[in-house]
Amino acid sequence: MISALTIPEIDVRNPEIDVRNLCVLVTAGASGIGRTIAESFVAAGAKVHVTDVVESTLAATIDAVPGLTGTIGDASRAEDVDRVVVDVSARFGGLDLLVNNAGIAGPTGRVDELTAADVDRTIDVNLKSQFYFLERFVPFLKDSKRNPSIIGMSSVAGRVGYGFRTPYSATKWAIVGLVKSLAIELGPLGVRANAILPGGVQGPRMDRVIAARAEAMGLSFEEMRNEFLRKISLRRMVEAKDVANLALFLASDLARNISGQIISVDGNTETA
Ligand SMILES: NC(=O)c1ccc[n+]([C@@H]2O[C@H](COP(=O)([O-])OP(=O)(O)OC[C@H]3O[C@@H](n4cnc5c(N)ncnc54)[C@H](O)[C@@H]3O)[C@@H](O)[C@H]2O)c1
Repeated sequence: MISALTIPEIDVRNPEIDVRNLCVLVTAGASGIGRTIAESFVAAGAKVHVTDVVESTLAATIDAVPGLTGTIGDASRAEDVDRVVVDVSARFGGLDLLVNNAGIAGPTGRVDELTAADVDRTIDVNLKSQFYFLERFVPFLKDSKRNPSIIGMSSVAGRVGYGFRTPYSATKWAIVGLVKSLAIELGPLGVRANAILPGGVQGPRMDRVIAARAEAMGLSFEEMRNEFLRKISLRRMVEAKDVANLALFLASDLARNISGQIISVDGNTETA
């Protein structure tokens, strides 16, 4: 199995992130971090397929990024994920990298005030979806001869506690356990698995998170934003491109011996 994998020699004087023609699937890739990852891989010469639940966003992204293809669907619905298998099989006939990126912020509030529906939805989208994609695409990855791997999108909330966002944090810690276990299970078959833990990524989603938290804490938006930045050693938010850069590295042969790792891209967030 693993001995059958041929890993190209790396020129140590001039190491290169080479993902040309790698077959990549990014869930929830029509906007946000997923889109930036998809665009970065396309720009680097990979073949990329994305999924997304919002049809108009998906259509606009496919239009804007030459070569990108996509499947409409909810990552937390098994029937929708089945359709992704059909499309990916037709386009690639296999897969080298699965980026399990789909995730929602979930509800903000005290644990005893959350609705069961909100908690369930967060678990379905953030965690169950990853199992749906793994169940269907791990067989493809096992057959890949291109240093196959899985990236599970966790969060800084999967490394530290995150009061008032308990469903989100619980699912993001769960992804850490999932990825570490996958690395053990799939390592002997030559498939690597790593988690990326982004900090707050600059953009509308982060603004919504800050606004919701400000309301829960009785603070203004600006006060809450400053509270966020005070806890980041580098005193700045992350950009989606920072996350995509790590994904490119992890997918490449430069990372051929990196598996089971939980890697933060968060400016060193000291506490939540
Ligand atoms: N943005 C951040 O600050 C941040 C920080 C840490 C971790 N993350 C994680 O990164 C991942 C991407 O986050 P983002 O901020 O880019 O997301 P986002 O909120 O910007 O959404 C990105 C895309 O996901 C799609 N989507 C939402 N629910 C979906 C579903 N059920 N099925 C398929 N597509 C769906 C949306 O339509 C959208 O196009 C998530 O797992 C998130 O938890 C984000």
